[in-house]
Order: sequence, then C-alpha cells, then structure tokens
Amino acid sequence: MSIRTPLCDLFDIEHPVLLAPMARVSGGALAAAVSRAGGLGLIGGGYGSADWLEHEFEAAGDARVGVGFITWSLARQSYLLDLTLERAPVALMLSFGDFQPFLPRIRGGKTKFIVQVQTLDQAREAVDAGVDAIVAQGTEAGGHGGARATLPFVPAVVDIAKEIPVIAAGGIADGRGLAAALALGASGVLCGTGFFASDESLASDNAKQTAVSGSGDDTERSSIFDIARGLNWPPDWNNRAMRNSFTQQWSEDIEGLRQNLAEEQVRFEAAWTADDTDIAAVIVGEAADLIRAIEPAQATLHRMISQAEGRLRRIRRIVEPNSKG
Ligand SMILES: Cc1cc2nc3c(=O)[nH]c(=O)nc-3n(C[C@H](O)[C@H](O)[C@H](O)COP(=O)(O)O)c2cc1C
Repeated sequence: MSIRTPLCDLFDIEHPVLLAPMARVSGGALAAAVSRAGGLGLIGGGYGSADWLEHEFEAAGDARVGVGFITWSLARQSYLLDLTLERAPVALMLSFGDFQPFLPRIRGGKTKFIVQVQTLDQAREAVDAGVDAIVAQGTEAGGHGGARATLPFVPAVVDIAKEIPVIAAGGIADGRGLAAALALGASGVLCGTGFFASDESLASDNAKQTAVSGSGDDTERSSIFDIARGLNWPPDWNNRAMRNSFTQQWSEDIEGLRQNLAEEQVRFEAAWTADDTDIAAVIVGEAADLIRAIEPAQATLHRMISQAEGRLRRIRRIVEPNSKG
C-alpha cells in the first residue's frame, strides 16, 4: 500500500507531505531533506533578504524544492519574487495578504502556485484566481494564523475548491493527522511544527529542546512577539508560540508592552541572541504534543507515512471487517 493523491502528481512527489515555509526555520537544508525523503520542502522566504535566499537555495543543492513568502511582507520586497522565479522552484506559496498583484508574474511558468488561506472567503478568492493548490490552515498551527479550527475548516474548503487540491495544515504532525486529513477530503498535508525540531531545521538547539519537552497546552496565540520584534503584522493574523515568562508578563497587557517598547525590544533582542527561550519566542503549534525527539526530517516523514498507512488499513477493516488489505 502506498498513499498517492492528486498532490503527488501535481508536484511529482512520492508522499503527499509538504514542509511549511517556516521563516527562520525552513532553510535550504531542511527543505532539501524533506524533498529527498519523498515530500516537498518549501524554503521559508519569510523575512529573508536576497542574500539569505540565495544562500538557502545553495544549501538545498540539487533537491527539488519550493519557496513560501509572507504576502504583505513580500509586497515591500517584491524583488525577492523575481529572484525566486529565476530559480524555477517546484512551487511558490503565498500566505497572509493580497496575492493578486503577484499573479501575473507567477502565471505561465513551470512553478506551481499555492495560496494558504484562513477563511472561506480567502478560499473562494483563491479558487476564482485559478491557483494550483490551496492550503487550508487551522488555528492549531504554529506561527501566524487565523481563528478557524482545522477539523471543520478543511472539508469546508474542499467543498469550495472542487477540483483544486486542498492541503490541510494546523495540528498535523504524525500519520494519524495525515490519515484524518485525507478522510476530510484533503489531498495532503503541510507541516511546520512537526519538522521544527528536525536536525536540519535552522531553529536553535535550545528552541528545539524546548519544543520537544513542551506540549500543545503550553502554546497560545498572541501578537506580543510581533510587537517585540518590531514586525508590523496586520491585525487579521496573530502568532501561536510557546508560553514563557515574556508572554506571562505581557499577554494580558499589550498596552503596557507598547508603552515600554524601547526597553522591551532591547531585552527581547538580547534574549534572542543569547538563545534564552524564557524570553525569546519558540514558535510551534498545538502539534508540539507530537514532537518527541530531535531527529532527521526523513525519519519524521517516513514514520508519518507508515503510521498513516497503518491507520488507513485499520479504518478499512472497520468498514470491511473481512478485508485483509
Ligand atoms: C516556526 C514557524 C514559522 C512559520 N513561518 C511561516 C512563514 O514564514 N510563512 C508562512 O506562510 N507560514 C509560516 N508558518 C505557518 C505554516 O505555514 C503552517 O501553516 C503551519 O506550520 C502548519 O501548522 P503546524 O505548525 O501545526 O504544522 C510558520 C509556522 C511555524 C511553526
């Protein structure tokens, strides 16, 4: 048994699993590791510079990878899009903002265009624009996101998308999540948190260890890390990360943080540099429950696939009790 969906054909990949383009985490080495393991790795172009992006493309070597950008941020650095398209990545993913101005430059080439959505209206817009695939992201996700939960949101987007493959994201980090996403009608999954603690991830060892020893209970959505990092995120999206002493101090007092911003930014930057995760952000989602070790991305991906196959076989036996498959 192997799991093949239309997503495998769309990207010419073996397994319907994508690495999320996590800013400052999904570099070329991690993207390449996921692609070489049979999925598709997306480099997190997030807040990167041209030099950073070139470096990460080099780190990916000859692996077939894609790239993802934060749309509102890309609007300020649109030369990054030209630089990316020159490399003809397998896929380009845009999230968080108006993708329409970029469409003419993306269309017509070999690069497949993916849009990540957090509301049904955004899904309808992506369908009307004729995108190649839609990521339906639930609020369980690590990093930025919206308010909808993955379980009802994915099938609702599947109904809107019709023939366009839908990729489920948010809270999926093992084979049980993959099997569930397929049962909801998704064509595959996009995982961030599940690969955060990979050997190849750009997260610090301390951040990886904090994520491994933490759980989904320890995460919350808020804007305070964006404020502390001086990132002017639009109010439609906030950021899921692990609670720490910084969130305990400011989550309920955003005005206080703004009033003390100058000192707090210095303190936050210093903690980031010193890798002090009691103040700096460890950006993972509810799927932190399922990350148990720092390990090669290939091990995570292959375990996910064999576990999903096992689950789907068991489900088949529930429906057809005499089936041996
Ligand atoms: C550390 C981290 C950084 C992220 N950065 C980005 C980003 O730069 N651009 C983006 O589109 N999504 C980003 N995301 C969200 C992912 O695209 C994806 O929706 C999410 O990881 C899926 O949920 P999961 O974390 O439960 O797997 C990030 C997620 C994490 C965990």
